[in-house]
Amino acid sequence: MATGLVEMMRLDGRVAVVTGGANGIGRATCRRLAEAGAAVLVADLDGEGAAREADAITGAGGRADAVAADVADPAAVAAMVAAARARLGGLDVLVNNAGIFPARPIMEMEPEDFDRVLDVNLRGLYLCTRAAARVMAAAGRGGVIVNITSIDAIHPSMPGLAHYDASKHGAWGFTKTSALELAPLGIRVNALAPGGVLTEGVRRMQPGGAGADAVAAFTAGIPLRRMGDPDEIARMVVVLASDLAAYMTGSQVVVDGGALLG
Ligand SMILES: NC(=O)c1ccc[n+]([C@@H]2O[C@H](COP(=O)([O-])OP(=O)(O)OC[C@H]3O[C@@H](n4cnc5c(N)ncnc54)[C@H](O)[C@@H]3O)[C@@H](O)[C@H]2O)c1
Repeated sequence: MATGLVEMMRLDGRVAVVTGGANGIGRATCRRLAEAGAAVLVADLDGEGAAREADAITGAGGRADAVAADVADPAAVAAMVAAARARLGGLDVLVNNAGIFPARPIMEMEPEDFDRVLDVNLRGLYLCTRAAARVMAAAGRGGVIVNITSIDAIHPSMPGLAHYDASKHGAWGFTKTSALELAPLGIRVNALAPGGVLTEGVRRMQPGGAGADAVAAFTAGIPLRRMGDPDEIARMVVVLASDLAAYMTGSQVVVDGGALLG
């Protein structure tokens, strides 16, 4: 008989690295991956937050460790991947989740604003993918990469995010060519495009913050009539990371409460 669904969802014996794992979608993803049996390296610019999250997972009986890492910094990314190998024994799943979305109209956008968004959201994706793929290829047991893009990789959600939308369209393009190049090595690469999800980052855009009105207008147009919960994204990451998605590569899954229908 074919393997059962629950067994297929398990990630026992696998090591996962989640960038931006200290908050929001990344934190929920770390928790669900650990629940599925993976050892999780929580990587974040906020090293203290990453350590707190790793402690929460180990406290709940899982296996986790933490590193402080800026995904836009090649040396930090190399150290992150080295930590996965040295402390947890390898690298089987990479979730490229770290991302920033500071709203700024184009006419007020400085080159530094544009560069930082592209550096984190796109250059970071490339640096982490390269480092992880090298480790996965050397180990010879395949692997999985999940890139957290956005519905903004497909269609704009609000004004003020031109740099962000450019980075996310780029992330989707990068996902497709990564999938093509890495398939012969048994490494699957997919994108997961969330719609509006209530996270620390989005809360910063709400009342008082830049983009607050735009977030309110966006929420009003969601067919399921609410923002998503980070865990609703994390569950889909587990599906993509597991053997449930064994025949999927180069795809982008949208989880948006119907927002793109609007
Ligand atoms: N929340 C949403 O509505 C939404 C929608 C679509 C896509 N996304 C994407 O999901 C991802 C996570 O978003 P979120 O809402 O959970 O964000 P968040 O701001 O709540 O958390 C992001 C985490 O990433 C970390 N981080 C930021 N820059 C980093 C860097 N250079 N290196 C390492 N870590 C870094 C932060 O410290 C933080 O812990 C992002 O890629 C975002 O673009 C979010």
